Amino acid sequence: TLSTESGWVSSATTLYNYQGFWHHARQLQGVLSCQKHFQAQDTDILLVTTPKSGTTWLKAILFSLLNRTRFQPTQDDHPLLSNNPHTLEPFLEPSLYLKDENPDLSSFASPRLFSTHLPYISLPKSVQDSKCKLVYLCRNPKDIFISFWAYTNKFRLQDVGTNSLEEVFKKFCEGVSLYGPFWDHMLGYWHESLKNPENVYFLTYEEMKEQPDLHLRKLADFLGCPFSPKEVKENMVDAILKICSFDNMSNLKVNKEGKLPSGINNSAFFRKGEVGDWKNYLTTEMVERLDKICEEKLDGSGLKF
Ligand code: A3P
Repeated sequence: TLSTESGWVSSATTLYNYQGFWHHARQLQGVLSCQKHFQAQDTDILLVTTPKSGTTWLKAILFSLLNRTRFQPTQDDHPLLSNNPHTLEPFLEPSLYLKDENPDLSSFASPRLFSTHLPYISLPKSVQDSKCKLVYLCRNPKDIFISFWAYTNKFRLQDVGTNSLEEVFKKFCEGVSLYGPFWDHMLGYWHESLKNPENVYFLTYEEMKEQPDLHLRKLADFLGCPFSPKEVKENMVDAILKICSFDNMSNLKVNKEGKLPSGINNSAFFRKGEVGDWKNYLTTEMVERLDKICEEKLDGSGLKF
């Protein structure tokens, strides 16, 4: 049985709780299809994120990293210069897997690179049983909240009504958000990364912003494609970071003017790209409330924001 909650994104949005996490109807269809049909291969790489934690950025980074021999990050016709990262590295759900159908994935070369927002508990069994590698990216919940709030405001259709920042914040704190409760999402992968560091790599947006070169090198090591001394000498790490930088990507024609097949403007995935924008929106009371929740929920886990 699914319990429901209405009014998270807008008064017209119903969320369904499945395996302890909240989804809207279309997403849930994708989750069920993915669980039923997706067959993981040991060489697969899955980027897992909570929505608005920097998925677009990490998609670009993983694509450039894994394809750096085929496409030099400095070359004029690099695919990232004319494609939004979401088209180069699709979501399992609700993109590749949406209806109760098994999509043809034969065009994906090995190692196949996919992304998902699925909580650990909801991953298809074949993923949990395989040796595929999971890269988990999360972000300070206060920035996730503001980023999502801004994103939904951009896309709010006129006929669905509006909810105030306060109302949406209240639901977020109660755990009612897309793929939320966010703390359970993070903890699921955090624990797995401690148990199984060979296969699960846990990274935060803040770490990546602070020391991008260090974390890109660590990612390359984890994925079994470390930078060679020659590549380091030729500044391959910097070149990848440069093509994937917020300034570069947000100013590309494809990201300013293009749209995804779902109709979403590519520009919606590039807002500020900063750490700590929540300070411009949340009241002291809101900050205290969310800090307290995080402290309680993450207590003893070793995970902190
Ligand atoms: P803000 O709304 O805080 O600016 P997602 O890709 O998971 O939807 O996350 C979107 C967030 O990542 C947005 O955050 C967006 O601006 C930021 N972002 C997108 N591309 C980025 C990049 N290349 N570098 C850093 N942040 C980026």
